[in-house]
Amino acid sequence: MTARTQDVTHNDAARSMVGEVGRQTAPGPGTISTGVRTPHPPPPAAAAARTESASKVYGSGQNSVRALDDVTVGFGAGRFTAIMGPSGSGKSTLMHCVAGLDSVSSGRVFIGDVDLGKLSDRQLTILRRTQVGFVFQAFNLIPTLSAEENIKLPMTLAGKKADRAWVDSVIATVGLANRLSHRPSELSGGQQQRVAVARALASRPKVIFADEPTGNLDSRSGSEILTFMRRAVDELGQTIVMVTHDPTAASYADTVLFLADGAIVDQLAQPTPQRVLDKMKSFGG
Ligand SMILES: Nc1ncnc2c1ncn2[C@@H]1O[C@H](COP(=O)(O)OP(=O)(O)OP(=O)(O)O)[C@@H](O)[C@H]1O
Ligand SMILES: [Mg+2]
Repeated sequence: MTARTQDVTHNDAARSMVGEVGRQTAPGPGTISTGVRTPHPPPPAAAAARTESASKVYGSGQNSVRALDDVTVGFGAGRFTAIMGPSGSGKSTLMHCVAGLDSVSSGRVFIGDVDLGKLSDRQLTILRRTQVGFVFQAFNLIPTLSAEENIKLPMTLAGKKADRAWVDSVIATVGLANRLSHRPSELSGGQQQRVAVARALASRPKVIFADEPTGNLDSRSGSEILTFMRRAVDELGQTIVMVTHDPTAASYADTVLFLADGAIVDQLAQPTPQRVLDKMKSFGG
């Protein structure tokens, strides 16, 4: 475990600023008074991942694009957050930077208490393997492997022994126990995406990032996968961050963040499709 740098931040003032999402959560055990002086307002529930003044500039000079512009946000542990915004507003960039798939140009990104900017490439790879799960719009399953083999693949690659009880409970939640030996081509789109979510869940990552996971699904398969992600949060305590264009998909989340021109411009707690739609209209999106 020497490979991982634990960079515990003591910057409580910064922390209290970043909990845009965490602030929605009920006070957790960490907010119980200990007699220690705490900043005002009290810090939000712990964030599974967060950014501090994160900016991302692609290219340089006249051709440069500021894809993220000073974003400070926290994704509360055990919460389901949706990110919405017009095409090109920086949703994927934000997710890729927080997931350690891309680096920020300035500012900081944390998964738990680990500052990604302080990790070597190798440490970052290990952190991604062990702490982060991904679900993409295309299901990204290995066609020659069975559903079960696909689910266990990240652990196989990491040389990690599967926690059987956990994997069994994930598989039970997926509701595909009788399809485990099937190859992806023998599964429906919704079932394939459920395998992809189960794969992301199987190694118990700190946070799962899903970039338009229902973008390629019909509405029935889409609601199947959203219901499953919701259960993963409610029953397994998973943290999920999901990019979507769909107000109905966003309504499964606890909180919706709205991005425009690389900045978070608004958020909505306890979203309904109609309220999400109204917000989108107010941004002209
Ligand atoms: N590798 C890159 N090089 C240069 N510019 C990039 C790169 N990736 C993204 N961008 C630009 O950064 C901005 C944000 O892109 P991003 O992919 O984050 O948008 P998005 O909100 O996910 O959009 P969409 O809804 O279309 O997926 C866009 O202007 C995009 O053109
Ligand atoms: Mg995108």
